[in-house]
Amino acid sequence: MKKKILLLLLFVLVAIQFVPALPESTAEPQDSILLRKDLPGEVASILKKSCNDCHSNTTHWPWYAHIAPVSFWIGHHVEEGREHFNLSDWEQYTPERKAHKIEELAEEVKEEEMPLPSYTWLHHQAKLTDEERHVLITYFESL
Ligand code: HEC
Repeated sequence: MKKKILLLLLFVLVAIQFVPALPESTAEPQDSILLRKDLPGEVASILKKSCNDCHSNTTHWPWYAHIAPVSFWIGHHVEEGREHFNLSDWEQYTPERKAHKIEELAEEVKEEEMPLPSYTWLHHQAKLTDEERHVLITYFESL
């Protein structure tokens, strides 16, 4: 009986590996804020290290992101992140949408809600210093 349950579990674990869980990752899209000529290098590097994996179409997947069920959880975060605020689609946003996103960004970053703690837990370098928070908010508010 125990052996059957273990075999069944193993089968399920193997089977779920074939369920697509991660949204596609592409090359830098033309409308990406990261391609703006006036984007300061410092802002670009903060966005890349702390936000890009969840808020762009150019997500870099770590090896463990490919293993189900972790992949379901990470894939869902990235889908939601892209939906709410997508650096890759920035230039397609209407002026009103940009203004609204900038307000939200300032709030989320000030309150240290972004980057998500579940992300900085594994990506220590993504944690923002007070100085980086200031640089990021000041730049977006200048747009
Ligand atoms: C691990 C993935 C992840 C990382 C990294 C991350 N975010 Fe998010 N972010 C999300 C998710 C998921 C949501 C939507 C749900 C929520 O608000 O919690 C979100 C929501 C937001 C929103 C709100 C948009 C709205 O419409 O409500 C903003 C703004 C934002 N993030 C900015 C940032 C910035 C700036 C960074 C980097 C400093 C960052 N995020 C890093 C996953 C992430």
